[in-house]
Amino acid sequence: MEVFKEIFPLQSYLQEHRKSGKSIGLVPTMGALHKGHLSLVGEALAEADIVVCSVFVNPTQFNNAADLDKYPRTLEDDLKMLETAGCNAVFCPSVEEMYPSLPVVKFDFGNLERVMEGSFRPGHFNGVGVIVSKLFNIVNPDFAYFGQKDLQQYMIIAQMVNDLSFSVKLRRVLIFREESGLAMSSRNRRLSEEAKDQAASIYKALRLCEDYLHRGEELDKLKREAYKLMEDNLVQVEYLEVVEPSTLEPVENVSSQKSVAVCIAAYVEGVRLIDNVIIKLD
Ligand code: PAJ
Repeated sequence: MEVFKEIFPLQSYLQEHRKSGKSIGLVPTMGALHKGHLSLVGEALAEADIVVCSVFVNPTQFNNAADLDKYPRTLEDDLKMLETAGCNAVFCPSVEEMYPSLPVVKFDFGNLERVMEGSFRPGHFNGVGVIVSKLFNIVNPDFAYFGQKDLQQYMIIAQMVNDLSFSVKLRRVLIFREESGLAMSSRNRRLSEEAKDQAASIYKALRLCEDYLHRGEELDKLKREAYKLMEDNLVQVEYLEVVEPSTLEPVENVSSQKSVAVCIAAYVEGVRLIDNVIIKLD
């Protein structure tokens, strides 16, 4: 596995492979890797000839300096995991390499970023748009892999690829979970064992919503009971939204929907976690 800290050596490596007709898959991450990230790498390896994983804690997408400071950084372990997984190359640049100067260009994703994560984390999706477009321009991948875990991030990147004609095919990968149902996340490392059990109630709440939606229950009732389930487990809910899965607009009338996404953000022991399920209603 090749490890690159700088843009130009990575690009000449990729150019050699591209010349010999190889396709390139990109898996962007912020490191502190877990099995969820590795499932993205697995899908990339199954489809692309050469898989590049980027590991970069992107400062421009953190709207909270303490959150950026506390973000786990475990590059050595990450490299071992990626090597074992069969990843071909890793791009782990410094902040100076990625941002010789701070970008002035700003992204506005319209209604897509006025809801959920966008409304609670102002500036977050601008930072994601900037870093992902930089990575697309540097790597020029044929395929790029993102997790459904960050559904809003996926939709925003899909919008950006469409609007700016990036020649990359996006793949959305299912959420990888612990046995308890807790969605794997780099932030789970900051949770005690007890908090991990409490955090599993987020997925239980999502399953409750799924069950109630299939039974045609009222949204109010579903939200009330899902909140209660989480709050009984000391989970502090920031939002629970039932939205249209592609526009992420809140759903008022479930009976007119073919599918909905239920999205939750919540704090457990002061750690912010997100999760979602997409539910077919036919
Ligand atoms: P990060 O949180 O490290 O996640 C990297 C990718 O892994 C994202 O596409 C995310 O959705 C996916 N992922 C995280 N947990 C997952 C799980 N349990 N199952 C499946 N996929 C999962 O998302 C980011 O980094 C950054 O915003 C980034 C896109 C790299 C831009 O900086």
